[in-house]
Amino acid sequence: MNPKGYSRPQIALHWIAAVLIVAQFVLHDPIVAAWEAISKGEAPEVGLLVWWHLIGGSLILALVVWRLALRMKRGVPALPDKEAPLLKGLAHLTHWSLYALMFILPITGLATWFGENETADFIHTTLKLPLLVLVLLHFAAALFQQFVLRTGLINRMLRAEK
Ligand code: HEM
Ligand code: HEM
Repeated sequence: MNPKGYSRPQIALHWIAAVLIVAQFVLHDPIVAAWEAISKGEAPEVGLLVWWHLIGGSLILALVVWRLALRMKRGVPALPDKEAPLLKGLAHLTHWSLYALMFILPITGLATWFGENETADFIHTTLKLPLLVLVLLHFAAALFQQFVLRTGLINRMLRAEK
């Protein structure tokens, strides 16, 4: 279980989740407005973008479960040899923190919407920032690997290999 690269399903799951996560941030105004109405005891306006947040967010949870199952079954390629141990450590820490947040955000979102749980709401709205920061860090690291260290890392998430 030591593949040279990511498989097609692993790559597809990575990019679908990335697009869905970015959409959760860009299109968050309607869900915040709907939740504010519910909190005030008013009828919320549940339009397409509110459904998008609820369904898209739940899909992220399903995809991360699938992704981790694949990771356990098939494994992932080792980090590039050229990468310094400190950077490798940082990459592992970022990846596992991203996985953890891909669980916690949807679960607390579900508990907020369906359970009207205030603690879950607090966690959901607080952890959005660390998720955003980690995604940006991850993106910057991928560009650094590609264009400064020239490890061709981004190609690993574009082209499947056994
Ligand atoms: C990885 C998945 C998710 C991400 C990245 C995400 C992200 C966000 C963001 C950025 C906000 C705006 C918060 C603010 O402006 O303070 C928000 C609000 C909210 N989300 Fe999510 N969300 C996700 C999944 C879910 C799911 C699955 C549900 C429910 C089924 C959900 C329910 C809510 C609710 C009810 C709010 C309004 C909370 C409030 O304004 O206090 N979210 N979410
Ligand atoms: C919401 C957005 C994103 C999330 C949550 C995310 C999450 C992850 C995670 C958890 C991994 C580790 C996979 C594993 O080995 O188990 C990974 C790998 C990777 N991601 Fe992302 N990613 C996102 C966006 C991006 C973007 C915008 C890029 C831009 C180039 C990118 C490039 C990569 C690359 C190249 C790898 C492979 C790293 C390697 O082979 O060691 N990701 N991503």
